[in-house]
Amino acid sequence: MIYAEILAGGIGRRMGNSDIPKQFLMLGTKPIIIHTLEQFLLVPEIAKVLVGCPKDWMGYMSDLVLKYIGTNEKIVIIEGGKDRNGTIMNGCHYIEENFGIGKKDILITHDAVRPFVDYRILTDNIKAAQKYDAVDTIIPATDTIVESLDGKVLSSVPIREYLYQGQTPQTFNIKELVEIYNSLTEDEKKILTDACKMFVIKNKKVGFVRGAEYNLKVTTMHDLKLANAILEVGLQDD
Ligand code: CTP
Repeated sequence: MIYAEILAGGIGRRMGNSDIPKQFLMLGTKPIIIHTLEQFLLVPEIAKVLVGCPKDWMGYMSDLVLKYIGTNEKIVIIEGGKDRNGTIMNGCHYIEENFGIGKKDILITHDAVRPFVDYRILTDNIKAAQKYDAVDTIIPATDTIVESLDGKVLSSVPIREYLYQGQTPQTFNIKELVEIYNSLTEDEKKILTDACKMFVIKNKKVGFVRGAEYNLKVTTMHDLKLANAILEVGLQDD
Protein backbone atom coordinates (compact mmCIF):
# COMPACT_ATOMS: atom_id res chain seq x y z
CA MET A 1 0.00 0.00 0.00
CA ILE A 2 1.08 3.55 -0.63
CA TYR A 3 0.42 6.04 2.14
CA ALA A 4 1.24 9.72 2.37
CA GLU A 5 1.67 11.97 5.36
CA ILE A 6 1.57 15.73 5.21
CA LEU A 7 3.74 17.06 8.02
CA ALA A 8 1.88 19.93 9.61
CA GLY A 9 2.83 19.50 13.26
CA GLY A 10 4.93 22.67 13.54
CA ILE A 11 3.89 26.15 14.60
CA GLY A 12 6.02 28.25 12.26
CA ARG A 13 8.05 30.33 14.75
CA ARG A 14 10.21 31.83 12.00
CA MET A 15 7.16 33.45 10.38
CA GLY A 16 7.10 36.08 13.15
CA ASN A 17 3.96 37.11 15.03
CA SER A 18 1.37 35.07 13.27
CA ASP A 19 -1.53 33.85 15.43
CA ILE A 20 -1.87 30.67 13.44
CA PRO A 21 0.68 28.06 12.31
CA LYS A 22 2.05 29.01 8.87
CA GLN A 23 0.52 25.97 7.11
CA PHE A 24 -2.92 27.54 7.72
CA LEU A 25 -2.08 30.99 6.28
CA MET A 26 -3.77 31.96 3.04
CA LEU A 27 -1.94 31.55 -0.26
CA GLY A 28 -4.11 33.08 -2.97
CA THR A 29 -7.66 31.94 -2.31
CA LYS A 30 -7.00 29.02 0.03
CA PRO A 31 -4.77 28.01 2.95
CA ILE A 32 -1.26 26.75 2.12
CA ILE A 33 -2.03 23.26 3.43
CA ILE A 34 -5.08 22.91 1.18
CA HIS A 35 -2.93 23.55 -1.92
CA THR A 36 -0.57 20.80 -0.67
CA LEU A 37 -3.33 18.35 0.17
CA GLU A 38 -5.01 18.79 -3.22
CA GLN A 39 -1.85 17.68 -5.02
CA PHE A 40 -1.82 14.41 -3.10
CA LEU A 41 -5.48 13.76 -3.91
CA LEU A 42 -4.59 13.87 -7.62
CA VAL A 43 -2.52 10.68 -7.31
CA PRO A 44 -4.87 7.67 -7.34
CA GLU A 45 -2.16 5.22 -6.18
CA ILE A 46 -2.06 6.90 -2.76
CA ALA A 47 -4.52 5.03 -0.51
CA LYS A 48 -4.59 7.40 2.49
CA VAL A 49 -3.31 10.88 3.10
CA LEU A 50 -2.56 11.46 6.78
CA VAL A 51 -2.22 15.02 8.01
CA GLY A 52 -0.16 15.34 11.22
CA CYS A 53 -1.24 18.55 13.03
CA PRO A 54 -0.66 20.13 16.44
CA LYS A 55 -3.29 18.64 18.78
CA ASP A 56 -5.05 21.99 19.33
CA TRP A 57 -5.39 22.55 15.58
CA MET A 58 -6.86 19.18 14.56
CA GLY A 59 -10.46 20.47 14.71
CA TYR A 60 -9.48 23.55 12.71
CA MET A 61 -7.83 21.36 10.07
CA SER A 62 -10.88 19.17 9.84
CA ASP A 63 -13.07 22.28 9.28
CA LEU A 64 -10.70 23.44 6.51
CA VAL A 65 -10.99 20.08 4.76
CA LEU A 66 -14.78 20.26 4.88
CA LYS A 67 -14.80 23.84 3.62
CA TYR A 68 -12.33 23.52 0.75
CA ILE A 69 -12.40 19.83 -0.22
CA GLY A 70 -15.49 18.25 1.30
CA THR A 71 -15.88 14.81 2.79
CA ASN A 72 -13.05 12.60 1.58
CA GLU A 73 -12.38 9.21 3.09
CA LYS A 74 -8.73 9.26 1.98
CA ILE A 75 -7.90 12.10 4.39
CA VAL A 76 -7.10 11.28 8.02
CA ILE A 77 -6.12 13.96 10.53
CA ILE A 78 -3.79 12.73 13.26
CA GLU A 79 -1.86 14.35 16.09
CA GLY A 80 1.63 15.63 15.26
CA GLY A 81 4.73 14.83 17.32
CA LYS A 82 7.06 16.98 19.41
CA ASP A 83 9.47 17.25 16.48
CA ARG A 84 9.22 16.58 12.75
CA ASN A 85 10.38 12.96 13.02
CA GLY A 86 7.89 12.52 15.88
CA THR A 87 5.12 13.56 13.51
CA ILE A 88 6.37 11.02 10.93
CA MET A 89 6.45 8.28 13.58
CA ASN A 90 2.89 9.12 14.69
CA GLY A 91 1.91 8.49 11.07
CA CYS A 92 3.69 5.12 11.08
CA HIS A 93 1.95 4.14 14.34
CA TYR A 94 -1.43 5.12 12.93
CA ILE A 95 -0.80 2.91 9.89
CA GLU A 96 0.43 0.03 12.07
CA GLU A 97 -2.60 0.18 14.36
CA ASN A 98 -5.21 0.57 11.64
CA PHE A 99 -3.89 -1.40 8.68
CA GLY A 100 -0.76 -3.27 9.79
CA ILE A 101 2.53 -2.65 8.01
CA GLY A 102 3.23 -4.76 4.93
CA LYS A 103 6.82 -5.47 3.83
CA LYS A 104 6.51 -3.28 0.75
CA ASP A 105 4.33 -0.51 2.16
CA ILE A 106 5.68 2.96 1.59
CA LEU A 107 5.06 6.35 3.17
CA ILE A 108 5.50 9.56 1.19
CA THR A 109 6.24 12.30 3.73
CA HIS A 110 5.94 15.94 2.74
CA ASP A 111 6.21 19.36 4.38
CA ALA A 112 2.74 20.92 4.59
CA VAL A 113 4.41 24.22 3.72
CA ARG A 114 5.63 23.13 0.27
CA PRO A 115 2.38 23.79 -1.57
CA PHE A 116 3.76 23.47 -5.10
CA VAL A 117 4.66 19.78 -5.02
CA ASP A 118 3.13 18.23 -8.13
CA TYR A 119 2.03 15.01 -9.78
CA ARG A 120 5.42 14.44 -11.47
CA ILE A 121 7.40 14.75 -8.25
CA LEU A 122 4.97 12.51 -6.35
CA THR A 123 4.88 9.76 -8.96
CA ASP A 124 8.69 9.89 -9.39
CA ASN A 125 8.94 9.31 -5.63
CA ILE A 126 6.61 6.31 -5.84
CA LYS A 127 8.63 4.80 -8.73
CA ALA A 128 11.99 5.30 -7.00
CA ALA A 129 10.63 3.78 -3.78
CA GLN A 130 10.26 0.44 -5.63
CA LYS A 131 14.07 0.44 -5.95
CA TYR A 132 15.34 2.01 -2.73
CA ASP A 133 14.46 1.85 0.98
CA ALA A 134 14.34 5.63 1.06
CA VAL A 135 14.00 8.38 -1.53
CA ASP A 136 14.86 12.06 -1.26
CA THR A 137 13.78 14.92 -3.52
CA ILE A 138 16.64 17.26 -4.39
CA ILE A 139 17.77 20.02 -6.73
CA PRO A 140 21.36 20.86 -7.70
CA ALA A 141 22.91 23.59 -5.52
CA THR A 142 23.15 26.77 -7.53
CA ASP A 143 25.04 28.88 -4.98
CA THR A 144 28.45 27.82 -3.78
CA ILE A 145 27.96 26.17 -0.38
CA VAL A 146 30.64 26.91 2.21
CA GLU A 147 31.20 25.29 5.58
CA SER A 148 32.30 26.95 8.81
CA LEU A 149 32.71 24.75 11.85
CA ASP A 150 33.29 27.59 14.31
CA GLY A 151 30.96 30.22 12.81
CA LYS A 152 33.93 32.58 12.24
CA VAL A 153 36.11 31.32 9.40
CA LEU A 154 35.53 28.92 6.51
CA SER A 155 36.59 25.35 7.16
CA SER A 156 35.86 24.08 3.66
CA VAL A 157 34.35 24.94 0.31
CA PRO A 158 32.98 21.65 -1.10
CA ILE A 159 32.84 21.14 -4.87
CA ARG A 160 29.45 22.43 -6.03
CA GLU A 161 29.04 19.70 -8.65
CA TYR A 162 28.47 17.18 -5.84
CA LEU A 163 26.09 19.32 -3.80
CA TYR A 164 22.31 19.39 -3.87
CA GLN A 165 19.58 21.01 -1.83
CA GLY A 166 17.15 18.70 -0.09
CA GLN A 167 13.42 19.26 -0.52
CA THR A 168 10.48 16.98 0.19
CA PRO A 169 8.77 14.58 -0.47
CA GLN A 170 10.93 12.00 1.26
CA THR A 171 9.58 8.51 0.78
CA PHE A 172 10.31 5.47 2.92
CA ASN A 173 9.72 1.78 3.23
CA ILE A 174 7.65 2.02 6.42
CA LYS A 175 8.95 -1.15 8.04
CA GLU A 176 12.58 -0.05 7.58
CA LEU A 177 11.81 3.46 8.78
CA VAL A 178 10.25 2.26 12.03
CA GLU A 179 13.10 -0.22 12.63
CA ILE A 180 15.80 2.38 12.03
CA TYR A 181 14.06 5.03 14.16
CA ASN A 182 13.61 2.59 17.04
CA SER A 183 17.29 1.65 16.88
CA LEU A 184 18.43 5.25 17.52
CA THR A 185 19.47 6.53 20.94
CA GLU A 186 17.71 9.63 22.32
CA ASP A 187 20.85 11.68 21.51
CA GLU A 188 20.93 10.40 17.92
CA LYS A 189 17.23 11.24 17.55
CA LYS A 190 17.99 14.87 18.48
CA ILE A 191 20.71 15.18 15.84
CA LEU A 192 19.09 13.21 13.01
CA THR A 193 16.42 15.76 12.22
CA ASP A 194 16.36 14.73 8.55
CA ALA A 195 14.69 11.36 8.12
CA CYS A 196 16.79 10.44 5.03
CA LYS A 197 19.94 11.08 7.07
CA MET A 198 18.91 8.25 9.41
CA PHE A 199 19.06 5.88 6.44
CA VAL A 200 22.41 7.27 5.23
CA ILE A 201 23.94 6.89 8.72
CA LYS A 202 22.75 3.27 8.80
CA ASN A 203 24.42 2.62 5.41
CA LYS A 204 21.17 2.17 3.52
CA LYS A 205 20.95 3.25 -0.11
CA VAL A 206 18.90 6.43 -0.41
CA GLY A 207 17.81 7.15 -3.97
CA PHE A 208 16.74 10.56 -5.16
CA VAL A 209 14.45 12.22 -7.65
CA ARG A 210 14.61 15.67 -9.19
CA GLY A 211 12.63 18.28 -7.30
CA ALA A 212 11.89 21.73 -8.69
CA GLU A 213 12.97 25.28 -7.93
CA TYR A 214 9.32 26.17 -7.42
CA ASN A 215 8.83 23.43 -4.82
CA LEU A 216 9.81 25.96 -2.19
CA LYS A 217 9.25 25.75 1.55
CA VAL A 218 7.45 28.60 3.23
CA THR A 219 9.67 29.39 6.23
CA THR A 220 9.50 33.18 6.47
CA MET A 221 7.04 35.92 5.42
CA HIS A 222 9.37 36.59 2.49
CA ASP A 223 8.81 33.01 1.28
CA LEU A 224 5.06 33.53 1.49
CA LYS A 225 5.37 36.60 -0.75
CA LEU A 226 7.45 34.53 -3.19
CA ALA A 227 4.85 31.74 -3.12
CA ASN A 228 2.12 34.25 -3.95
CA ALA A 229 4.21 35.54 -6.86
CA ILE A 230 4.73 31.97 -8.15
CA LEU A 231 1.00 31.36 -7.91
CA GLU A 232 0.32 34.49 -9.97
CA VAL A 233 2.74 33.75 -12.81
CA GLY A 234 2.10 30.00 -12.88
CA LEU A 235 4.63 27.25 -12.25
CA GLN A 236 7.49 26.62 -14.61
CA ASP A 237 9.93 23.78 -14.53
CA ASP A 238 13.60 24.70 -14.87
N1 CTP B 1 6.63 19.80 11.41
C1 CTP B 1 5.88 18.74 11.91
N2 CTP B 1 5.95 18.43 13.25
C2 CTP B 1 6.73 19.13 14.07
C3 CTP B 1 7.54 20.18 13.57
C4 CTP B 1 7.47 20.49 12.22
O1 CTP B 1 5.15 18.09 11.16
N3 CTP B 1 6.73 18.82 15.37
C5 CTP B 1 6.44 20.17 10.00
C6 CTP B 1 6.03 21.63 9.84
O2 CTP B 1 4.64 21.80 10.12
C7 CTP B 1 6.43 21.95 8.42
C8 CTP B 1 7.59 20.97 8.16
O3 CTP B 1 7.64 20.07 9.27
O4 CTP B 1 5.39 21.68 7.50
C9 CTP B 1 8.90 21.70 7.95
O5 CTP B 1 9.37 22.26 9.16
P1 CTP B 1 9.63 23.79 9.45
O6 CTP B 1 9.59 24.60 8.22
O7 CTP B 1 10.80 23.90 10.35
O8 CTP B 1 8.26 24.15 10.25
P2 CTP B 1 8.04 24.72 11.70
O9 CTP B 1 8.63 23.83 12.72
O10 CTP B 1 6.57 24.99 11.80
O11 CTP B 1 8.80 26.13 11.58
P3 CTP B 1 9.72 26.89 12.65
O12 CTP B 1 10.98 26.07 12.75
O13 CTP B 1 9.92 28.25 12.06
O14 CTP B 1 8.93 26.94 13.95
